[in-house]
Amino acid sequence: MYCLYNREEIGYTQEDWLRHFEAHDENRLQPDFSKEPDLTEEQALMIFPSIQAFQMGERSDGVHLMKEVRRYVDRSGDRTYLECMKWFIREENWHSVYLKKYLDCYQVPDMEISVLDQCFRELRRFGGLKGEIMVLATAEIIALSYYRALAACVKSPALKQICRQMLVDELPHIIFQGQTLGRLGFGRCEELIAVGLMESVIAATWIPFRKVFLTGGYDLESYAKECLGYLKQMMNIAQAKS
Ligand SMILES: [Fe+2]
Ligand SMILES: [Fe+2]
Repeated sequence: MYCLYNREEIGYTQEDWLRHFEAHDENRLQPDFSKEPDLTEEQALMIFPSIQAFQMGERSDGVHLMKEVRRYVDRSGDRTYLECMKWFIREENWHSVYLKKYLDCYQVPDMEISVLDQCFRELRRFGGLKGEIMVLATAEIIALSYYRALAACVKSPALKQICRQMLVDELPHIIFQGQTLGRLGFGRCEELIAVGLMESVIAATWIPFRKVFLTGGYDLESYAKECLGYLKQMMNIAQAKS
């Protein structure tokens, strides 16, 4: 597990975040698919359902999220946050593009319906912007362990590049969401909800994708420990801002 407290983003202002997202956008990954190996049927069956599900999660249009962001910005006057969130959604959509390119390379279609994704979308509608960010951050924390495991599942240079880029982008996102939750107010009640939500999502992702996690070096205990560890760090960041 990476330590978030030592990262430079910890001290970022909204203007710094804006520059961060703009700089990332100027330097997007172009995965190299020229050295892709053939996958065994077993490997394909193991990785593709999870990649399809995560690709779907990353391609959210953010319409409901931006509605809540605008409502918050109208109240707070924090227009830089609005700009940051536009860039943030764009960055998430790039994650979807990387995974789509990987699926295309193996002629695997993207997924039309995912129960997990539907659950995330419904959950995010409760609790205004705070609810949106809490659910979003839960998915991002899960993603940190998932992409780390996925990279170890097959000897694919492109997939390793993509998973490495996901970590580069997602680690700062956790700090960004933590700071936002702090500004919105993050107390004991929110902490209990966040832990309950995280435990539910750990179970909901472990059951269908456990082969990916196991092959990537996690068992249920280490997977849960890592996710709850990241959540604890994010909640400390939020509480420091509250
Ligand atoms: Fe993402
Ligand atoms: Fe993210």
